[in-house]
Amino acid sequence: MEAANRFCSLGALNLLLWLTASFAAETDNLRTYIIQLHPGSYGGGSASNSELLHKWQLSLVGASMSESRILYTYQSAMDGFAARLSESEVATLRKSPEVIAIRPDRKLQVQTTYSFKFLGLSSSASGPWARSAFGRGTIIGVLDTGVWPESPSFNDRSMPPPPKRWKGVCQQGQDFNSTNCNRKLIGARWFSRGHHVAASTAPSLDSRNASPEYISPRDSHGHGTHTTSTAAGVPVPMASVFGNGAGEARGMAPGAHIAVYKVCWLTGCYSSDILAAMDAAIRDGVDVLSLSLGGFPIPLYDDSIAIGSFRAMEHGISVVCAAGNNGPIVSSVSNGAPWIATVGASTLDRQFPALIRMGNRKLYGESMYPGNQPHKAGSDKEIDVVYIAGGENRSQFCIKGSLPRDKVHGKMVVCDRGENGRAEKGQVVKEAGGAAMVLANMEVNKEEDSVDVHILPATQIGAREAALLKAYINSTARPTARIVFGGTVIGKSRAPSVAWFSSRGPSLTDPGILKPDVIAPGVNIIAAWPQNLGPSSLPEDRRRVNFTVMSGTSMACPHVSGLAAMVRSAHPGWSPAAVKSAIMTTADLNDHSGKPIMDGDSPAQVFAMGAGQVNPPKAVDPGLIYDITPDDYITHLCTLGYKSSDIFTVTHRNISCREVLRTNQGFSLNYPSISVRFEGGATRKMVRRRVTNVGEPRSVYKVEVVDPEGVLVRVRPMRLVFRRRNQVLGYRVWFISPTKNGVGGASSEGQLTWVNTRHRVRSPIAVTWKQS
Ligand SMILES: *[C@@H]1O[C@H](CO)[C@@H](O)[C@H](O)[C@H]1NC(C)=O
Ligand SMILES: *[C@@H]1O[C@H](CO)[C@@H](O)[C@H](O)[C@H]1NC(C)=O
Ligand SMILES: *[C@@H]1O[C@H](CO)[C@@H](O)[C@H](O)[C@H]1NC(C)=O
Ligand SMILES: *[C@@H]1O[C@H](CO)[C@@H](O)[C@H](O)[C@H]1NC(C)=O
Ligand SMILES: *[C@@H]1O[C@H](CO)[C@@H](O)[C@H](O)[C@H]1NC(C)=O
Repeated sequence: MEAANRFCSLGALNLLLWLTASFAAETDNLRTYIIQLHPGSYGGGSASNSELLHKWQLSLVGASMSESRILYTYQSAMDGFAARLSESEVATLRKSPEVIAIRPDRKLQVQTTYSFKFLGLSSSASGPWARSAFGRGTIIGVLDTGVWPESPSFNDRSMPPPPKRWKGVCQQGQDFNSTNCNRKLIGARWFSRGHHVAASTAPSLDSRNASPEYISPRDSHGHGTHTTSTAAGVPVPMASVFGNGAGEARGMAPGAHIAVYKVCWLTGCYSSDILAAMDAAIRDGVDVLSLSLGGFPIPLYDDSIAIGSFRAMEHGISVVCAAGNNGPIVSSVSNGAPWIATVGASTLDRQFPALIRMGNRKLYGESMYPGNQPHKAGSDKEIDVVYIAGGENRSQFCIKGSLPRDKVHGKMVVCDRGENGRAEKGQVVKEAGGAAMVLANMEVNKEEDSVDVHILPATQIGAREAALLKAYINSTARPTARIVFGGTVIGKSRAPSVAWFSSRGPSLTDPGILKPDVIAPGVNIIAAWPQNLGPSSLPEDRRRVNFTVMSGTSMACPHVSGLAAMVRSAHPGWSPAAVKSAIMTTADLNDHSGKPIMDGDSPAQVFAMGAGQVNPPKAVDPGLIYDITPDDYITHLCTLGYKSSDIFTVTHRNISCREVLRTNQGFSLNYPSISVRFEGGATRKMVRRRVTNVGEPRSVYKVEVVDPEGVLVRVRPMRLVFRRRNQVLGYRVWFISPTKNGVGGASSEGQLTWVNTRHRVRSPIAVTWKQS
């Protein structure tokens, strides 16, 4: 109610009345826009305003189309509303003094049993992380495709009631009502106005998506159930995907409560819906927001997620987002605002081997075909292998209807990746009468191995193996092979390594900040699944499971959301920046073998893994933190050269950058990583940092530096002597580049670590030279 009052002071009222008046005029060529209004133009919640509100509502009801044209009003994540408007209406609105910005609605995409143990956590309540109580008392809000509430992962037997401050609801809808919420799943809402508008104008949905789309918080897709249970699912013993990856399934923060905000539908996730969900989540009282969705990187002032999450951060909410699946393309990282924790994906050391044998030769592959049990499936007999290259029907991709039955019947069919879904190719081969499938990575996929719960015996091979297999097929008159399944193998491979698909920095939106921030498990993650969907997501898949496997930065993001809940549970007063700092400065650079984390065939760079692989037990006890206030971010935006009006759009603060920069000379954002850019021929750069002691009251830290190649690093002071808890000490770092254009490339990297007897507080350093 307070929201509506604020919204309906005179300025906004006139605006909306004007919209109402023009409704009758144009009904065609309407598009959805997000209209951001000046918060100062609202009068606050006085009595006269509520009267005006009433009038306004009546006027809306009176006009025939008005209600459907205004999709949402926003007041917590942003001030403004979403509406369907014609171009001329937009042009008129732009002249209105109340309007700060008008952005077209934007469509974004959604981008474990074992990961819990892999990250060094155990179920026993001892160790330094026991304080975190596995996220007890915190609430994680998940913006995704909804939830399957009956999943055993959301059982509330072990859960206390929600905190008293919780204001969320369990919103009724199709096959969903308040009885579906419990002490684990404490809230559920759905936001579909932007989606419905888009769906009614978009070309018809892919007919393959034949499963019902619930108009409710219920998950029709599976993605949201998977991510939600990864963040905070309760332990479920003896979980597996048809015997694959068997073990106890549990989320990162099994003690945390969950609130689900369904914003993603089969056609995508619309920013007008996302903003409405963030608006509600801020008021509901979540502690962490988890967004496994995004698009290509855009400027912060055009990015609804960046704008909504700034407000969320001001309310003390940790916002955690997926970095995107557009790797290894350089500068593909999205959701890169400095107040967001941006998460890339890494691998586990769990494999599902399914080798291809050709006589005495063999090729390594992996599969989660249900028959992937050692000594169980796979016949000794080799069968014919075919690869139908090229041709007008592009049969090599195994697109529906492209495989000639006479050529594939009873055979093992090689399908190249790309064009359609991996599991879908299996269905196409099966329909054409094929007996088995080999999924062959293309050059762009390298050796990346995201396994699927295939519908027929199948394995996936890397690009190197694919070349060998195709050469073998070419070299023989009648090539034959068989798949030898090896079950689930743990601890035999080097891990973590960076997932090939994980989006990379440097950030285009904010080159002053190293992104992604961290990496977390995102390849072949097993988590909860809707009980009416097949594990391959195919409509033809009649199998039913409680868990399935998925890969993506979407799966990495909720690991960090759960970790943020754990850190907040251990340290209730900490700001979102402090929580993120703890997660970043304790992350690992080395894999489980003690060697550098790899990215394909070479050691991972900071633009692939940020500060490194998250280490939950350490994150709860970081020793020092780098804290940041909302005002610091504003000053930072000024240093980026943003115009005051753009800063106003993002932060809702009316500041003069000239003034801010004058009073903050030499300002550096107190970020837990360091990104230095040499441009315009500069050869010296200085950055400042300040650390807060959250460890032992009396402690002495010494600095250790690994200089980036081609750069000298000088830190002053080199020792920090703390005498009490929460004491803040500053230091400065000089970067001296003897050459103007760097050495052997446009970037190099190093480390700066503060070390005492118990802690290593590490910041990665990225140096780039802008070639002049
Ligand atoms: C909620 O849904 C369940 C199952 O469909 C139904 O039995 C119950 O009556 C519903 N409750 C309310 C309050 O609508
Ligand atoms: C391509 O597909 C069409 C329709 O299924 C079929 O008629 C045609 O023969 C196919 N072409 C080749 C080269 O297989
Ligand atoms: C297979 O042989 C054909 C003709 O000799 C050649 O054009 C093609 O590139 C070969 N393919 C592979 C994968 O070796
Ligand atoms: C899924 O979990 C439910 C308990 O919630 C159980 O009754 C059912 O048997 C499980 N299904 C499978 C396929 O394991
Ligand atoms: C910002 O503040 C200045 C003076 O402090 C004022 O003149 C200007 O109108 C304000 N702008 C906005 C958009 O509020």
